Amino acid sequence: MISVFFKTYGCQANVADSAGIASFLEGLGCVQVETEAAADLIIINTCAIREKAEQKLYSYLGELVDFKEALPYLKIGIIGCVASYRKQEMLKRFSYVSFVSGARDERTSFLTYLSDVIVQLQTEKQFFEKTLTLPAVSVDLPVLNRDVKAAMKARDLVVPAARIKESTQAALGGSLAPVGEVRRAFINITTGCNNYCTYCIVPATRGRETSYSLEEIVMRVTHEVAQGAKEITLIGQNVNSYTCPETGQRFAALLEAVALIPGDFWVRYISPHPKDMTRDVLETMAKYADKLCSWCHFPLQAGSTRVLELMNRTYTKEEYLAQVELIRQIIPGVTLSTDIIVGFPGETHEEYLETLEVVDAVGFDMAYSFVYSRRKYTKAYNMGDTCPAEEKSARLTELQQKQRAIELVRNQQHVGKNMRVLVEKRSTNGKLLARSAGNSRVVFDGDDGLIGTFVEINVLEAGQAELRGVLRVDTSSDTKIKNVVA
Ligand code: SAH
Ligand code: SF4
Ligand code: F3S
Repeated sequence: MISVFFKTYGCQANVADSAGIASFLEGLGCVQVETEAAADLIIINTCAIREKAEQKLYSYLGELVDFKEALPYLKIGIIGCVASYRKQEMLKRFSYVSFVSGARDERTSFLTYLSDVIVQLQTEKQFFEKTLTLPAVSVDLPVLNRDVKAAMKARDLVVPAARIKESTQAALGGSLAPVGEVRRAFINITTGCNNYCTYCIVPATRGRETSYSLEEIVMRVTHEVAQGAKEITLIGQNVNSYTCPETGQRFAALLEAVALIPGDFWVRYISPHPKDMTRDVLETMAKYADKLCSWCHFPLQAGSTRVLELMNRTYTKEEYLAQVELIRQIIPGVTLSTDIIVGFPGETHEEYLETLEVVDAVGFDMAYSFVYSRRKYTKAYNMGDTCPAEEKSARLTELQQKQRAIELVRNQQHVGKNMRVLVEKRSTNGKLLARSAGNSRVVFDGDDGLIGTFVEINVLEAGQAELRGVLRVDTSSDTKIKNVVA
């Protein structure tokens, strides 16, 4: 049996990709393991969004040398966004890496290649266990090229019909079910991006946007729910530009179709683009609020209209604020989170202050904020990196301080209220960790048996990062609640 360890960097599209590949490998009889030391195959799914993300990858690759020396047949594969645009460089620099496959490589070919890797690995592992050496004449892959795309091109590839179906399923993603945690599924509904925000490398690493078929997505979600998934996250770089390639149905129709799947589960999605947020999407969320979480991740990026234009975001500060108002009007009690970049080329101090102003005006429940990182293959690359590093980090620190204060105030509004939460796991401090539909973290005391179930919590206290609560009695019966309240 071949053991596989996944190291997944980056966004949830990578999480979904790793989950999809993992379920394909499980179909071949492989098992997922929790540590590098237990693995025969290590797959690293890489992220290129900021320079820091790439640096983390290189230091991780350095750490793997020891594992390769200890286990000569160990195979290490690099996939994902860095592999898309630095493939040759990686092949040259990391001779101990067995294969490199970019995020844009055709999925069916990649999985076919991967199944060959598993066959070779099985042979080498058996031989090694008997002799403590590798076979002299390696039982090679049909094509040994470590560049997966070139390997598959050179090979007269006959893809089994079943593999095409498996590939679609793998491309859609799947579940992460770490031991002792709730089962959550991450489903790609689109891949790639056509927006070309000028700072962003994603269109270069993932290519043009394509949507998966609505029918396939619904089938996949139904399958995940049947397997016990309690939370489904629909993923795309710009989910609300979703268009079914077969029927032309848009994102609101997809949300409705997913909400109509029977079962007790929650649905989230990331990320929508403000320019594509339409009323019908919001109305669908309100209509199916039992399934569709009242949470919207709504990336702002910058508060100044001039900077937004330089970023090619195609909305103004006023349009963004109007959209926020509409979201709040249609989905009462919705929580909002966002992404913000500070120090974009040419961003003046005054323009940065406009970002703070919007942050204040909206009152986000959560924000991910970053200093601008200059990326190759983006339009902003040629705009330079004009904001000094100290200035960028000072802006980030100030923004984050402000945001933390806002979060504390927003969290305090929950105190004394009841909320339905999904219990995720036992946290390191011994409490149960759960999340509300609005994506608030809630901790409370309870038994392991509650993990993976929906329960009702009374919020006692609020900090900036999480809420502390107490479990209400079994909420499955209204009578019981009434008894307790009385
Ligand atoms: N498609 C999604 C997510 C893109 S990546 C979206 O559009 O929302 C996640 C976040 O990383 C972006 O929203 C942006 O805030 C940030 N990001 C992207 N490129 C960046 C760069 N070059 N420097 C700093 N942050 C960046
Ligand atoms: Fe990047 Fe913009 Fe596409 Fe998001 S919408 S992935 S930020 S280009
Ligand atoms: Fe990173 Fe690629 Fe996602 S660059 S953020 S893993 S799309």
